Amino acid sequence: MGSATRSKLPNEGMSIFTRMSQLALKYNAVNLSQGFPNFETDVRLQELVTRAMRQGYNQYAPLAGIPELREEIVKKIFRLHGRNYNVDTEVTVTNGATQALFLAITAFVHPGDEVIVLKPAYDSYEPTIELNGGVVIPVQLRELDFSIDWELLKSKLSPTTRMLILNTPHNPSATVLPKSEMLKLEELLKGTDIILLSDEVYEHIVFDRHQHHSASAIPGLAERAVVCASFGKTFHNTGWKMGYCVAPDHLMEEIRKIQQVNVFCVNHPFQKAFSEYLKEPQHYLELAHFYQKKRDYFLSLISGSRFNGKPSEGTYFQLLDYSDISEEGDVDFATRLVKESGVTAIPVSVFDNGRDRRRLRFCFAKTAETLERAAEILIKL
Ligand SMILES: Cc1ncc(COP(=O)(O)O)c(C=O)c1O
Repeated sequence: MGSATRSKLPNEGMSIFTRMSQLALKYNAVNLSQGFPNFETDVRLQELVTRAMRQGYNQYAPLAGIPELREEIVKKIFRLHGRNYNVDTEVTVTNGATQALFLAITAFVHPGDEVIVLKPAYDSYEPTIELNGGVVIPVQLRELDFSIDWELLKSKLSPTTRMLILNTPHNPSATVLPKSEMLKLEELLKGTDIILLSDEVYEHIVFDRHQHHSASAIPGLAERAVVCASFGKTFHNTGWKMGYCVAPDHLMEEIRKIQQVNVFCVNHPFQKAFSEYLKEPQHYLELAHFYQKKRDYFLSLISGSRFNGKPSEGTYFQLLDYSDISEEGDVDFATRLVKESGVTAIPVSVFDNGRDRRRLRFCFAKTAETLERAAEILIKL
């Protein structure tokens, strides 16, 4: 074929998530690689969706999302973070957080604009920047604790920096940015036109003494931030692909122009269901406790193993260092782990331009039985 099929994303192959899941199937392995729960979303929420369908909410919804849902989102953010977004002009419901990220990058990144990505990072940011002709400026998080190297970050800012992408709680490191770090970011961006794209999909999954500090809670960040959220992560239904973003109205106006030509609007009956379900805050307020029990159970099950790692601070991932077991690179070790032992995990280097920290990411959003089956194998290594 000629130039008609010239790829816009020449470096995108099969993702490691697909590869690991295929290997998991082939070797009948316990799959702790992909980031989704293997238990059901609340039956009540399923019933709310069914009811909305029966009640006839089956045609196009408004572009921004139905007002009842936008109202609940605004109330939730105000209660938790103290910022009052405008229901009409500052909230848009999206097809999951991934689409919110896509909209924000597409709305603001012009060819040649630089976008700072803190690495390791979730895998959708960079291809989306590339598709829009932007230039990814990777900034490595510190080797041991994944904290931000502020001097390094400062040295990467330039007059063409258009956007900085932040993710807290962070996938894959499972760290949570403390308020002091969010304030440093506020200071760093002061006086610039840089847009902050704040990926907060794990906002409700934080453990121990850690707290989530949303960009929406910090005035100097909120005024430049597009904050992205995911119902899929929060309500155990990643397959529904529902989420939203909030941003000051002048930013949201541009985001909606992209939404208009991208999907126009999001699934109507699901919006109806979430607008009811969000009226009961316990569903998201109890999430941290729910996942902390799973994290603690998983860590207790593998406590006698040769894997090492600091307990996850947030997200439903646990990083484990395997350097006491093997000197192999993380992709090789992860591949051997599935083929010979029957457990899949994600090698962290795939989020980090191949930089190998000898760590694997395990997802503990799984039933007790699945965690037990995995741990039984891991403690023998
Ligand atoms: C950091 C991060 N952002 C965004 C997403 C995607 O969220 P959604 O499923 O709502 O598109 C994920 C999913 O793994 C993620 O880990």
